[in-house]
Amino acid sequence: MGECRVCTGPVNEFFDFGRQPLSDAFVRKEDFASEFFFRLAVGVCGSCSMVQLMNEVPREHMFHEDYPYLSSGSAVMRAHFERTAERFLATELNKPDPFIVELGCNDGAMLKAVADAGVRHLGVEPSGGVAQVAEAKGVRVRKTFFEESTALEVRAADGRADVIFAANTLCHIPYIGSVLRGVDTLLAPDGVFVFEDPYFAEIVRRTSFDQIYDEHFYFFTAQSVRAMAARHGFELVDVEPLPVHGGEIRYTLARAGSRRPTEAARELLREEVDAGLADLDTLRGFAARVEDIRDGLMSLLRDVRGQGGTVVGYGATAKSCTVTNYCGIGPELVPYVCDSTPAKQGRFMPGSHIPVREPAAFADPYPDYALLFAWNHAEEIMAKETAFKDAGGRWILYVPDVHVT
Ligand code: SAH
Ligand code: TYD
Ligand code: ZN
Repeated sequence: MGECRVCTGPVNEFFDFGRQPLSDAFVRKEDFASEFFFRLAVGVCGSCSMVQLMNEVPREHMFHEDYPYLSSGSAVMRAHFERTAERFLATELNKPDPFIVELGCNDGAMLKAVADAGVRHLGVEPSGGVAQVAEAKGVRVRKTFFEESTALEVRAADGRADVIFAANTLCHIPYIGSVLRGVDTLLAPDGVFVFEDPYFAEIVRRTSFDQIYDEHFYFFTAQSVRAMAARHGFELVDVEPLPVHGGEIRYTLARAGSRRPTEAARELLREEVDAGLADLDTLRGFAARVEDIRDGLMSLLRDVRGQGGTVVGYGATAKSCTVTNYCGIGPELVPYVCDSTPAKQGRFMPGSHIPVREPAAFADPYPDYALLFAWNHAEEIMAKETAFKDAGGRWILYVPDVHVT
């Protein structure tokens, strides 16, 4: 049993993926011998219901100069963040001299539109390489981890923020209490803290177990977010389901009593009670389905290879690290993975050591099957790879179950 990072309550483990490497550490041959491994296991707090990893990886191992993930790698995500910026500009930032801070601004996918509108903003981003990409787009960035001390510095330099935003970042931060104290320090009295992350109910519903990896420390629900917010004087005032990354929720927190919670927030909280998300039965069912997916995927890949068929991976996602290392997929089953991210190409996938190649390698020649590791971008990818299916190729998916299309 572990201790909850939010409330110190007892955390009951419900799945153990075993020894896993860092999901975004795309290695060179000379790094094979010194790869970092840790035990990836996930549990639920018996007191506040927060789902969380049992072990924390030191943040400097994950987020540094060479962190390869780029938010703008998907056209759908670029459009999503442009719309997000436009919405803030038209609502919360539609006042004299507004100020927005984004935690984990990455390559500036959201803040670029804010900068272009001439609105005061700041990205806080510890990964130097991606932060530099944002700066090249005209985004103002402080290259550091956000925590309580950062908030004090930013407030002293720039004043309080009307909006603090974080996409796919808050769930990455084990020391979340420090972040919420920082939000309390930096946010204007009537400001909002808006964050969007994978929704645990969707992970259970789709059995998307590959959302569980080193960087994803927390798996939020409206219930667990509400409990966490209350510890810091905040209230959950709105929720908005988002279709991106396999189903997320955008949560809005405001200072307790400052805004009236929406019907959507109240409804989701009620729904979750009925769904029994944190019940042991629900979690045991999830665990059993994860094992079924592993067995089904491995027998499909072995059958295809046994019959002389070829399989190439599509999308060297962080998520795929859990799939390859938990299932035991190596280059003998999937000889390479194609990915559009320059920093991943020419490297090897963490743990499995499957080579990563450029997207053009996919058609040279087309494989019989493509294993879609970037299943959350299925629509976008399948739309641009129609020639693969026209040539007789087929996609292998493992979310929500193992199937071929
Ligand atoms: N917001 C982007 C990037 C998500 S990846 C998107 O949704 O696409 C997570 C980002 O959080 C990485 O760029 C990482 O460097 C950053 N990050 C990790 N810990 C952080 C912290 N304590 N404060 C701010 N950013 C952090
Ligand atoms: P993503 O699923 O967004 O995130 P994570 O790494 O957190 O699991 O990663 C998508 C990966 O797929 C990223 O490395 C870029 C790559 N990609 C392509 O190669 N081609 C594409 O058309 C798209 C949309 C993504
Ligand atoms: Zn707890």
